[in-house]
Amino acid sequence: MVQIAVMGYGTVGSGVVEVLNTNQASINKRAGDEINIKYVLDLRDFPGDPVESKLIHDFETIVNDPEIKIVVEVMGGVEPAYTFTKRCLEAGKSVCTSNKELVARHGAELLEIARERELNYLFEASVGGGIPIIRPLNSSLTADEITEITGILNGTTNYILTKMSYGGTDFDTALKDAQAKGYAERNPEADVEGYDACRKIAILTSLVSGRQVDFEDIYTEGITKITAEDIKYAKKMGRAVKLLAMSKKEDGKFFAMVAPFLINEMHPLYSVNGVFNAIFAKGNVLGDVMFYGSGAGKLPTASAVVADVVDAAKHLHRSIMTFWSTKKLELTDISNAKRRFFVRAKGDGQADAIRMAELFGPVELVNADLEGEFGFITGKLTEAEYQECAAKTDAIIHMIRVEG
Ligand code: HSE
Repeated sequence: MVQIAVMGYGTVGSGVVEVLNTNQASINKRAGDEINIKYVLDLRDFPGDPVESKLIHDFETIVNDPEIKIVVEVMGGVEPAYTFTKRCLEAGKSVCTSNKELVARHGAELLEIARERELNYLFEASVGGGIPIIRPLNSSLTADEITEITGILNGTTNYILTKMSYGGTDFDTALKDAQAKGYAERNPEADVEGYDACRKIAILTSLVSGRQVDFEDIYTEGITKITAEDIKYAKKMGRAVKLLAMSKKEDGKFFAMVAPFLINEMHPLYSVNGVFNAIFAKGNVLGDVMFYGSGAGKLPTASAVVADVVDAAKHLHRSIMTFWSTKKLELTDISNAKRRFFVRAKGDGQADAIRMAELFGPVELVNADLEGEFGFITGKLTEAEYQECAAKTDAIIHMIRVEG
């Protein structure tokens, strides 16, 4: 029997217990042993809950129990999760987590501790909820140099954008709905400002580059400035607004960013709607590959955590994860990235459009029948060139980058 402990009995923690109970027989068969939850750690009491008899409030019980071989950390946040994880690994226990904040900040160090001790620090659920992406990058795609990862990595924002596009719902109602369904972070600012997607692309970039990527270095823009008017223009152009997290390797150097983009229907991420996430990757020998599935929510996320528990149980004395170095990866400045930009500007006459063309070069006009404004798409410019042109006018209402 493999005894495990679950730290955190919130949305994901209770999902982990549910998944282990629901699929007990097949999970045990695949793990080659019986997996048993010995403790559930939480500050709160849950009177009448099925885990009541396993509930503990003191972390020391877990770390000091030699019977516990695997610890599930689904507490979220950096502390005390970091200290607890480190102590568990140092005490000879493998740790499985969904905590992207912790993996993004201390992944390199925790992976190293695990590797030194022939243990595992597994974090499939930290990116893309229930979608397998860490494991494929760690095992199936190891023959390739990954040159690009572009993903819809946040379920809450994709849900909001989809509702705004197809349901006519406003931003606040869609966010409340996502929160009620258990998709959103405790502080939804992390979702809507793009911080959650930023941590996830930092993890993926660390994994493919083999170096620590500091998420603070990644240019990040959320979706709070996306309006119903932007969506109207997008529809007129046959495009969708998507919060993309991207990481690309060009001339041996990586650049990464998170921002809303306008993508056309030929783009592989165009039809990824609702809470679904998808991750598109390019390998130098494989070519394109895409992973799609439920990116948030109790059971999809718990499914990925439990799959890690099974892997950890199968490899109790062997480290299976590729690690990345604590040495920091220097990302290149996004200001050299070249693309087209969609711009909404004040004015509605021919003269206004000509003024914009004089500033930005040849532009493609977009008419969404909105009073007092018009839209246009620039030719390919670098970020720096766009900013330089935009600084010369006060007519700009909003800009969204165009991908593809
Ligand atoms: N809040 C996150 C999301 C949860 O909406 O994608 C999964 O990481």
